[in-house]
Amino acid sequence: MARTSRIIVANWKMNPETLPEARRLFARIKKASARTRNVRTIIAPPIVFLADLALSYGGVCVSFAAQDVFFERKGSHTGEVSVPQVASVGAQYVIIGHSERRARGEENDEVHKKVKAALSGGLSVILCVGERERDEDGDYLSFITEEISSALRKVRKEELKQIVIAYEPIWAIGKTARDAMKPSDMHEMSLFIRKILAGLYDRAAASRPRILYGGSAEPANVKALLAEGEVDGFLVGHASLDAESFKAILKIASNR
Ligand code: PGA
Repeated sequence: MARTSRIIVANWKMNPETLPEARRLFARIKKASARTRNVRTIIAPPIVFLADLALSYGGVCVSFAAQDVFFERKGSHTGEVSVPQVASVGAQYVIIGHSERRARGEENDEVHKKVKAALSGGLSVILCVGERERDEDGDYLSFITEEISSALRKVRKEELKQIVIAYEPIWAIGKTARDAMKPSDMHEMSLFIRKILAGLYDRAAASRPRILYGGSAEPANVKALLAEGEVDGFLVGHASLDAESFKAILKIASNR
C-alpha cells in the first residue's frame, strides 16, 4: 500500500554543466521543498557537485544521493568513488543499477555487489529496475523478477527499510508524459513488485521498500500515477532540471 510520506528523487544525470548552475538550480529546489508536507526530496547531482551542495545545506527537507558508487571500499580503482567517500560528503542515498549504467555494461551481479556495499556502509539504496520493452509473452516479468532477486540476494529482511525500488520502464525514459506508463499499468507493476518481495521474504517485509515510478514523470502525469498507480513517489529525470516543473511535481506530491 502507498505510504503517507512520499519520496521525490531528482536525478540530474550529467547536468548541469557548471557548479554555479548547479547551485542556482539547487537554491530554487531547496526553497520549494521547504514548502512541502510529508515529502522527502532527494537530489542526485553529478558526483563533482555533491559535496558542495550537501555540505552547504543546513535544512532538513532535502537529502542527497550519489548517482552510482563502486563496491570496493578503497584501493586502485581509478575514476570510481566509494560508499564511505560519498557518505562522508553528505549522501544518505545512492542510485544503483540505473538503466543508463546497465546500458554501459553493468550487470546484475555488479548491481548486487553495489547494493551490499551501500547497505553495509549505511546508505539507503534506490534500486532501479525496468524492462527495455514489453513482449506479449510476458518475458519482461521474468526479467524484472531476476533484476530484483539478484540485487537483493543476501540482503536481510531488516535491511529492506533502506531499500527504495524505482521501476523505470526503459521505453518511457526521457520521453514525455504522453509516452509514460499508464497509472493502471503501474498499479499492476507495483503489485507485481510486492509479490516478488513477498516471495523472497514474506508479506510484511514486502510492504517495507518504497516503490517509485521513473520514466517521464512530469507535472502532467504524476497526479494520476500517485492516485491510481500505487506508488510512493518518483525518480524524475529531465523534469528535475527545470525548477518550475520540479516544483510543480513537489507541490502535487505534497497535496493530499
Ligand atoms: P526521465 O528520466 O524522467 O527523463 O524519463 C528518469 C530517469 O532515467 O531516472
